[in-house]
Amino acid sequence: MRIAAAVLEVPGGPLRVAELELEAPRRDEVLIRLLASGICRSDLSLLDGKWPAPLPMVLGHEGAGIVEAVGEGVDPGRIGEHVVLTFTPACGRCRFCLQGRVNLCTAAARAMDLGVLPDGTTRLSHGGGPVHHLALVSSFATHAVVPANGAIPVPAGLDPMLACLLGCGVLTGVVSVTRRANVRPGESVAILGCGGVGLATVLGASLVSAHPIVAVDPVVSKRELALRLGATHALDPSAEDPVAAIRRIVSDGVDHAFEAIGIPAVAEQAFAATRTGGTTVLIGQPALGVKASFPVYDLTQFEHDVLGTHIGGATPALDIPVLAALVVAGKLGLEPLVTHRYRLEEIEEAIEATRSGNAGRVVLDLR
Ligand SMILES: NC(=O)c1ccc[n+]([C@@H]2O[C@H](COP(=O)([O-])OP(=O)(O)OC[C@H]3O[C@@H](n4cnc5c(N)ncnc54)[C@H](O)[C@@H]3O)[C@@H](O)[C@H]2O)c1
Ligand SMILES: [Zn+2]
Ligand SMILES: [Zn+2]
Repeated sequence: MRIAAAVLEVPGGPLRVAELELEAPRRDEVLIRLLASGICRSDLSLLDGKWPAPLPMVLGHEGAGIVEAVGEGVDPGRIGEHVVLTFTPACGRCRFCLQGRVNLCTAAARAMDLGVLPDGTTRLSHGGGPVHHLALVSSFATHAVVPANGAIPVPAGLDPMLACLLGCGVLTGVVSVTRRANVRPGESVAILGCGGVGLATVLGASLVSAHPIVAVDPVVSKRELALRLGATHALDPSAEDPVAAIRRIVSDGVDHAFEAIGIPAVAEQAFAATRTGGTTVLIGQPALGVKASFPVYDLTQFEHDVLGTHIGGATPALDIPVLAALVVAGKLGLEPLVTHRYRLEEIEEAIEATRSGNAGRVVLDLR
């Protein structure tokens, strides 16, 4: 079938909407009619060539839609199901899946690196040549073919403009708090970087009754949004040293500090704002090879845990439905996160809005 999709041909862009050919789903795959896709800073890192990617490729990895057709071996009863797409479906066989660390699945990582589906080929093509899939999702498009177990069912009543956020940003932010850092009620938290991921981290901290919750971002609208979503304090790192300011609020440093932008100096600030025996969680991802440094004496003497995280340590098939249920129940309010909405044809403006740093989340309305 012919579809419209935003394709990256060369590192640095531009990202252009083109008509592509999408093959029918093969065994254990499903065809998705996409309804919405969030734009994450990771899409920009690929677009800008900070991370290597096989090109051409359809970007987008935060998608929600409806199952429109199924391949061999998939229950036809799934047609019509509302789903959120995940980039780490479990292969169920690698050592990480067997350990319950599905987010590190080796098969998913391999498919991601090669820009293909699990069988090693692409369903997308243009003029007879293959077009690669981003992370088994490629949601800047009208349709996608994905692994059947990468399409996670969510309630039909959940607004797809919110549901899509559960594919990456909200999953990562909330689950970084609940699983990776295991924040307990009453523990203190600082979040450095309040984009889509950092604001979801604020929501997660609020959900588990962390206190206080200190948000750090140079953009005033982001600080206001963080306060609306449950932060108790908001700091401007361009006006004052955020470490000193956090330590003024929590004198010994916070129990948990989260870095959600991907700037080494900010990772170092997060470390310096963490108390003895506390955890510093690094979520933000800079270009490959970029390093941050931490004082080894402090790490050892004060038993700091510095944790990296990939989607918060989530098991998407377990955690996405749980978060979806919380949204439907009114316990996880995602509406304020969606500050900008665009159509697929407006992808360039949508990317610029994401780049500006002013957006909570920019979401493409694909309906
Ligand atoms: N580890 C994971 O699994 C995972 C998942 C999703 C995204 N990411 C990464 O997380 C990071 C954040 O993604 P996003 O989509 O939220 O980005 P975003 O662009 O929406 O937000 C980044 C925020 O950081 C703020 N910022 C800029 N400089 C700052 C500073 N010096 N101190 C504090 N804040 C500052 C910006 O104003 C903006 O609000 C990116 O690096 C992305 O690649 C990681
Ligand atoms: Zn992402
Ligand atoms: Zn696996």
